[in-house]
Amino acid sequence: MQGRYYLRSFGCQMNDHDAERIRALLEAEGLEQVDAPDAADVLVYNTCTVRRSADERLAGHLGTAARLKRSDPSRLVLVTGCLLQAEQTDLFTRFPFVDGALGPQNLYRLPELLRATARRADQGPPGYFDDGPVLSGGLTGRRERPFQAWLQVMSGCTNFCTYCIVPYVRGPERSRPPAELVAAAEALVADGVREITLLGQNVNAYGLDLETDRAAPGARFAELLQQLDALPGLDRIRFMTSHPKDLGDDLIAAVATLPSVCEHVHLPVQAGSDAVLRAMRRGYTAAQYLERVHALREAVPEVSITTDLIAGFPGETDRDFENTLDLVREAAFDGAFTFVYSARPGTQAARLPDQVPLELRRERVERLIELTQQQALDAHRAWVGRRVEVLVEGRSRDGALYRGRTRQNVTVNLDGDADAGAIVTVEVTAATSTTLRGTTV
Ligand code: SAH
Ligand code: SF4
Ligand code: F3S
Repeated sequence: MQGRYYLRSFGCQMNDHDAERIRALLEAEGLEQVDAPDAADVLVYNTCTVRRSADERLAGHLGTAARLKRSDPSRLVLVTGCLLQAEQTDLFTRFPFVDGALGPQNLYRLPELLRATARRADQGPPGYFDDGPVLSGGLTGRRERPFQAWLQVMSGCTNFCTYCIVPYVRGPERSRPPAELVAAAEALVADGVREITLLGQNVNAYGLDLETDRAAPGARFAELLQQLDALPGLDRIRFMTSHPKDLGDDLIAAVATLPSVCEHVHLPVQAGSDAVLRAMRRGYTAAQYLERVHALREAVPEVSITTDLIAGFPGETDRDFENTLDLVREAAFDGAFTFVYSARPGTQAARLPDQVPLELRRERVERLIELTQQQALDAHRAWVGRRVEVLVEGRSRDGALYRGRTRQNVTVNLDGDADAGAIVTVEVTAATSTTLRGTTV
C-alpha cells in the first residue's frame, strides 16, 4: 500500500507505546507519516476513554476526520485503542464515516484491517476487539528517540478499581515471560537504547499470572529488574505504574540497590480517606500507603514519589476530602496528576448513589492542584545547588536550550551545549514546580 498516514494518540504511556507500534506496522505496509490530517490518505485515532473528557476530545477530532472524508471519500479513517466495549458496535453507527476499528489487544491485526477496509463494500466496516490467542505485547514500535524505549511487561488489568474502565477495555492482566523480556531488552540495547521504561497497569503484580506457567514459575518484578540491571549498556531502567497494594520490600530493595533502576516510583494513591479507598476497592488504607512511602524514602533517600489523585469520588464528604489533603501533606509528593472523578459507564462506581456535584469536584481538584504544585516546587527547590545525572533528550520546547531528565524523572533545561542521548552531570541552578534549570559540569 502506498500513501501517507496521520496518527493521533491520546491517553497514557501504554497508548503512546501502542502508537509507536501502529507507526511501525503502517510503515511496514509502505505508508509514510505526515503531520497534517488533510495531507493523509489514512487517518488513525488511537483513543483513550479513561475519563469523559477523553471521549469528548476524540469526538472533536473525529469531526475533522468526517469533514476530510467528505472531501475525499477514498481516505480511510481508523479508530484504535481503548474503546469502550459498549461502543465497539455503536462506533460505526455514531461515526458512520469510520472505516475500521481495532481494540488494544488486536493491534497486530492492523495490516489485516487495512486490507479488509479496502474490500469492505457490502459487509460493513470491520472491527477486531476480542481477546485473541495472540497478544500485541511483542510487537516492536518505531521509537521516537534512538536511545529511549518502552517495554511492555504485561497487558491488561484485573484489579477492577470501581471507578476505572481500563480492565474492561484492556482485558485481564497477562505477563510476558521474563526470558522474552530480557531478550527484547538485549535487542533494544544492541540497537542503541540506554533507557528502558517498563510498562504495565500494575507492574508490582508482574508474574503473578505466570505462577502456573512451567516456563517461568513465580516470576517476580523485582527479579526481572535484577536480570535487566545485569545487561551491560543499559544505563537506566524505569517502570510504571506501581500499585501500592503490591509494593513489596523486594521492589523497594531493587530501587535502592540496582544501579540502573532509577529512583522514581509513581505510586497512585487516589484518595486519603479509608472509606473512599474501600469504596474504590484499592486494597490499602491511608496508613498502609503512608507506611510504604516512608519505607521507600528510608531505603532510597533520593527517591522521588509521584502520585495520581481523584477528587469527588461518589460519596466523598468534606471530611473524606480533608483526609486526602492530610495524606498528601504527609506524603510530601514530588509531583501529582490530579483528576476530577468521571463516571464511566459500566463501572461499579457509576452506579453508586451520592455522586458529588461537578462544581464541588472541581473545587476540590483545584485545592489538590494548589497543594501538589507547591509540594513539587518545594521538592524541586531542594535540588538547587546539587549535582544530578541527566540523560539529554534533545532541544527544549523554545528551541534555545537542551532538555533532559534526571533519574528522578524531573525535566531539566540545560544552559550550554549538549548531545542528545548523552548522560551528563548537571549542577542545578533554579527550579519551578515542573522543571529544573542547570549547567553541565
Ligand atoms: N493503572 C494505573 C492507572 C491507570 S489510569 C493505576 O492503577 O495506578 C490513570 C489514572 O487515571 C488513575 O490512576 C486515576 O487516578 C485516573 N482515573 C482512572 N479512572 C478515572 C475516573 N473514572 N475518573 C477520574 N480519574 C480516573
Ligand atoms: Fe484502573 Fe485500578 Fe487497574 Fe489502575 S489498577 S488500571 S486504576 S483498575
Ligand atoms: Fe491508557 Fe486511557 Fe487506555 S489511560 S489504558 S489509554 S483508557
